[in-house]
Amino acid sequence: MQKAKLINKKLLSQPDAIKPVWQVSLDITNTDLNYQVGDILFILAPNSDEDVQAILDEFNIAPDTIIKINNLEDKAYQLLKYHFELGKVSFSLLQELANNFNDEYLLSILLNKVEIEKFIHSKNNLDLLHYFNANNLDFLAFLKLLKPLQKRAYSISSCPFCYPDQINLTISQESFYKNGKMHFSHFSNYLKNLNIGDELEVELLSNTGFHLPDSNNDILMIGAGTGIAPYIGFLQEREHKKTPANNWLIFGNRHYEKDFLYQEELENWLESGVLNQLDLAFSRDGNEKVYVQNLIHQHSEKIWKLIQKEGLIFLCGNASKMAKAVDQALVDIIQQYTELDHKQAKKYLLNLRKSKRYMRDVY
Ligand SMILES: Cc1cc2nc3c(=O)[nH]c(=O)nc-3n(C[C@H](O)[C@H](O)[C@H](O)COP(=O)(O)OP(=O)(O)OC[C@H]3O[C@@H](n4cnc5c(N)ncnc54)[C@H](O)[C@@H]3O)c2cc1C
Ligand SMILES: NC(=O)c1ccc[n+]([C@@H]2O[C@H](COP(=O)([O-])OP(=O)(O)OC[C@H]3O[C@@H](n4cnc5c(N)ncnc54)[C@H](OP(=O)(O)O)[C@@H]3O)[C@@H](O)[C@H]2O)c1
Repeated sequence: MQKAKLINKKLLSQPDAIKPVWQVSLDITNTDLNYQVGDILFILAPNSDEDVQAILDEFNIAPDTIIKINNLEDKAYQLLKYHFELGKVSFSLLQELANNFNDEYLLSILLNKVEIEKFIHSKNNLDLLHYFNANNLDFLAFLKLLKPLQKRAYSISSCPFCYPDQINLTISQESFYKNGKMHFSHFSNYLKNLNIGDELEVELLSNTGFHLPDSNNDILMIGAGTGIAPYIGFLQEREHKKTPANNWLIFGNRHYEKDFLYQEELENWLESGVLNQLDLAFSRDGNEKVYVQNLIHQHSEKIWKLIQKEGLIFLCGNASKMAKAVDQALVDIIQQYTELDHKQAKKYLLNLRKSKRYMRDVY
């Protein structure tokens, strides 16, 4: 991993948005990161001192005790800070404790996804130890059952031609209530405490399935929420290169007043002609939900023409709900303008994906 310095942290949404969104800018001068628009930046966010100390206290371990585990050897404090997921309940730990303590209730719900998720969300690993009163559990055995600390992925929201020494990201602040108290998710807690000048551990992923080709094809960018992230880089690049093509964005979020991310930039691009069309779906402003797929249906004829003219379609955002609905809307359009049945239309869409004319970056 390499070190990039935080140079700016700017709120893109209103502060009272359900999920406030931040633009995070990193100086990459002292790295050898060579990015392209559409790439992903991984960030390793260490655990908070508070969480680390709470675990050390629980096991009565001095922070500088040297611990050897798997192929790691370091002070207990360092291991907890940089190597293990402390917040999210580890299923292995839960399973082990449920078996060891022969907990009838937990053993009965271990295979019930809904019930177990509910239980897991009500606790962190420390709460779990307290739940079982597992004060005789060995520290090493505990560590072995924790998940390794995961790097978090973020779509790059800048273009290297405009920002050769910088990477911008678009990051939503996630929080949840547990036992009546508001908590920040792991990365959001880290982000909240970051100061300008702090160094972050980063790694670049070349996202070859989501690159903007160096061609003059028209593009349709579809995104919801922070799914707008890569398109800011795409538009910067098309503006920089003066690409003679049409750029169309369909963007969805909750409220116009609070969640219109990059409003100023998008309106400026509309005015200057870099962005030829902007369609917005604010889901919670009217009596009925309006989502990006509703706009896709509304513009079916134009989208079919774009497909016919070798245009490229990009999709970014939530995989489980939005992406499925967008796929379905595109299949509907294919069926509407061809003689294909549902199965054949799905295959047509799959072929668009295989030939990189429909590119998805969804999670
Ligand atoms: C390829 C890719 C690109 C991505 N790009 C972006 C991007 O551009 N911008 C962006 O903002 N995100 C992006 N993400 C998502 C990002 O990687 C993180 O998953 C996200 O920031 C949440 O990480 P976290 O550590 O804050 O949440 P975690 O702590 O890992 O929690 C995950 C989720 O569970 C919830 N949660 C955790 N504990 C509890 C609990 N006890 N009760 C209830 N809920 C709980 C959290 O609120 C959160 O929503 C991307 C993901 C991928 C895979
Ligand atoms: N490169 C990537 O893979 C990448 C990059 C960035 C973000 N992401 C992912 O994208 C998601 C963005 O999260 P977010 O919090 O910014 O936004 P979000 O929770 O996805 O919400 C954004 C908008 O989508 C709407 N929505 C909800 N259900 C929908 C459905 N079935 N179809 C279409 N739209 C729907 C929401 O409406 P309501 O809430 O009013 O229903 C809201 O208006 C996350 O899952 C994130 O991990 C992935």
